[in-house]
Amino acid sequence: MTTIDKLEDVQGIVFSGYNKYMANCSYYLLQIDDAGKTKPWLKNLVEQNQISHGADKPTDETENRINLALSYSGFEKLQLDKDSLYSFELSFQEGMDSEHRSALLGDRGINDPSAWDWGSGAKRVDLLFILFSKNDAIHNASQKYHEKAFKGAGLSVVQRLDAGEKKQDANGFTLEHFGFADGISDPQVDGFPSTSGAGEIATGEFLLGYPNQYDGKLTKMPQLGAVGEAFGKNGTYLVLRQLKQDVGAFWQFMEEEAARQGITTDYLASKFVGRWKSGAVVEPNQDTDPGKVDNSFNFTKDPHGTGCPLGSHIRRANPRAVGLGATAEEALKVANRHRILRRGRSYGNFLENPVKDDGKERGLLFICLNANIERQFEFVQHTWINSVKFAGLYDEDDPLIGSGVAENRNFTIQDEPLRRRVCGFQQFVTTRGGSYFFLPSLSALGLLGNS
Ligand code: HEM
Repeated sequence: MTTIDKLEDVQGIVFSGYNKYMANCSYYLLQIDDAGKTKPWLKNLVEQNQISHGADKPTDETENRINLALSYSGFEKLQLDKDSLYSFELSFQEGMDSEHRSALLGDRGINDPSAWDWGSGAKRVDLLFILFSKNDAIHNASQKYHEKAFKGAGLSVVQRLDAGEKKQDANGFTLEHFGFADGISDPQVDGFPSTSGAGEIATGEFLLGYPNQYDGKLTKMPQLGAVGEAFGKNGTYLVLRQLKQDVGAFWQFMEEEAARQGITTDYLASKFVGRWKSGAVVEPNQDTDPGKVDNSFNFTKDPHGTGCPLGSHIRRANPRAVGLGATAEEALKVANRHRILRRGRSYGNFLENPVKDDGKERGLLFICLNANIERQFEFVQHTWINSVKFAGLYDEDDPLIGSGVAENRNFTIQDEPLRRRVCGFQQFVTTRGGSYFFLPSLSALGLLGNS
């Protein structure tokens, strides 16, 4: 079992999305206009213990939590020397909106960075400031305080993204906008305070400076001048994507298609996700939601996808122990080299009548953490979610969130004696903005403030 050196050096969001104690959350997307003013502000935040870390567990009394990450342009503006800048992973240097990376991520057509609200061109982001608060009153006051401080720190706000209305189901799971329980399957990470015993996934997958899942070695860390790689230790990469969900179109399609095929709407939608609305995984010969959530399955009891379809969202996002190797053990080993730690929140209000669009925007502020963007987030998005050739399938992408096929999309539901085909539907999720960030350790933030 790995021990993390100094939990107080690791930013708190690595260990928790603060869903339990922090009802409010705003993501400030900032540009650095005057680094000479930004550095002392940063130094102050660290010295006054304002950045939350892994050793300060929130309680009912906790009012705020702050976390902070920088993009490549942010590090450039803080005037890191060339060697330090080039020590970051290539995907991070190139940026999510670069030609190569956006093609790889499926950000084409309606998802193209040229149409984004932020994250590209003049609206590139240097710094991500995440503010969590306990309630509305504290959040409003904190927003005012920090927005004023940004002005004095040579920072301008490109965009503020506020987490939206929160809904929980009877089991206490948060619902995403399509109405499904979310936040169920997160990797049990070795050495994390929430993990009992040795976790299934190596610490180094989500925190630099510890052995990884890939080859048991340390993933390459960014470095800073004389401090070297110690700068990268206890840090990680953070991916942020604003994903708009077209809830009305999703449920309208489900209703029409289910009626056409003589099945129920919830049955069809659950096949798209791979889980019922409650979060229970769809099992073979199951017509209704059992309501009991269990995450210990590995698909070996459903090898052909007659329960949870091979191309469903959760099976593409994490194929577990089936499909990637000759044995279950081998397949799981391969799948576990591409795990991500999700920390996002929904934005916008819930649509009252799910089949009747109200013209308002809503979706997911998707955040994931990973020690290697290319091997983890980008691999999952490109090779599993958007790929038309996956698990023996050949003309479809992730039916829920895929952007690998622009229109007239297909989805196969494996069944006995015959499979079912769902054809001709649109993309239900659109990328509205995004950026890659590096979430430094607290000591690294201190070094940047003092540089
Ligand atoms: C609006 C966009 C999205 C929606 C509505 C959505 C919805 C869901 C839901 C309902 C679940 C099942 C509950 C759970 O295990 O937490 C899930 C699981 C998951 N999603 Fe998404 N998701 C979205 C975007 C993404 C993206 C962009 C990725 C990665 C590129 C992703 C990766 C995953 C992973 C890794 C799991 C867990 C799979 C498992 O281990 O079983 N999701 N998602």
